[in-house]
Amino acid sequence: MVAKKKKIPFGTITITEKTKKLIMAALESKRISSGRLVREFEEKFAQLYGVRDAVAVSTGTDADALAMAVLYDCGAQRGDEIIIPSLSFVSTGNAVLHVGFTPVFVDIERETLNINPGLVEQAVTERSRAIMPVHLMGKPADMDRINEIARRRSLYVIEDAAEAHGALYRGRKIGTLGDMAAFSLYVAHIITTGEGGIILTDDEEKADILRSLRAHGRACKCATCVLNTSSGYCAKRFDNPAGTDIRFVFERHGFSAKMNELEAAIGLGSLDCFDDIMARRRHNFYAMTEIINRYPQFMYTIKEEEHEKIGPHALPIILKESTPFTRDEFVAYLEKNGVDSRNLFQSMPTQCAGFRFLGYKLGEFPEAEYVADHGLHIGVHQDIDDDQIEYLDRVIADFINNH
Ligand SMILES: Cc1ncc(COP(=O)(O)O)c(C=O)c1O
Repeated sequence: MVAKKKKIPFGTITITEKTKKLIMAALESKRISSGRLVREFEEKFAQLYGVRDAVAVSTGTDADALAMAVLYDCGAQRGDEIIIPSLSFVSTGNAVLHVGFTPVFVDIERETLNINPGLVEQAVTERSRAIMPVHLMGKPADMDRINEIARRRSLYVIEDAAEAHGALYRGRKIGTLGDMAAFSLYVAHIITTGEGGIILTDDEEKADILRSLRAHGRACKCATCVLNTSSGYCAKRFDNPAGTDIRFVFERHGFSAKMNELEAAIGLGSLDCFDDIMARRRHNFYAMTEIINRYPQFMYTIKEEEHEKIGPHALPIILKESTPFTRDEFVAYLEKNGVDSRNLFQSMPTQCAGFRFLGYKLGEFPEAEYVADHGLHIGVHQDIDDDQIEYLDRVIADFINNH
């Protein structure tokens, strides 16, 4: 049976002519593992954000994980703690565990969906190494307060900016406000490589460590070896007192997390359209926000405040307590009418099985649990046009009229 096409799909991908040409050329050259295109993509991404270095990796989860793994070179020990919000896509918490740290969860604020900065300080212990705020649904976390706590308590700040491409906080780009920032480039995200992730940092040494981490912890950091741009002889490989081949010296516990050339080709095309994609998504985000704001007795969405611009990743919808229908009834109606949606994640410590061993109890993160039980999100992507937005308006109005 052919699957019925959704009238408003959740995500999309823009594949440009340039991407197709680059992919064909890469295939013909028979060099498709990480190389020239990945490097070009990194340089352009870093330029877009005005930062020194961008290090491309295979997923957003790896971007989170590698950014944290850098902390081992800064004195962190296995089991040290990373403070994260209790509500996020599960990969934020998974990444902490992948790296061997302990996630310490802090409840969110129901209105912003982000970590409650008033609760962060009491989560700091002797073993805390970093705070990793998530800018959920593109809404910037309260970076002034987070950075202030981090400074006072000597913690690193790693932004999980997976969903926050194009977001601004007090005129500055989200992704440039901490020590490092991790983006997902998964297909539903604003800049995409299909699957992929990228880490931004202004610190050259951290960038070098990240390049080593994504390639098994390799010692050699030179362009020829790390970027795989030539299969020729590299003098630096043997340029050490022992004359050892440093491509086969592994300085740290690494990952296998490189991006390939075909993914970078998609990313390069995506970057060329960044302004157009952003403009269309912003338009859709604002128009859909207006629809939701017509029903304040039943539902709400995040509010863009004066000091910020929300990165138009998706539109979250959270039902109010007094609403006479459940989230699942609302979602079923949307789905039946061709509007694709996703739930608004889970409280990782209390609703995701993978974190059960940490011993948290349901009820400990009431705001995250509320949003998880009452929230959903729908696409605002660049292929949604005004007719589809009008259609969404009618679908929601019909549903509300029947309740
Ligand atoms: C907040 C957040 N962090 C991390 C990730 C991980 O990204 P990926 O799916 O590319 O591994 C996602 C995925 O969308 C996310 O939403």
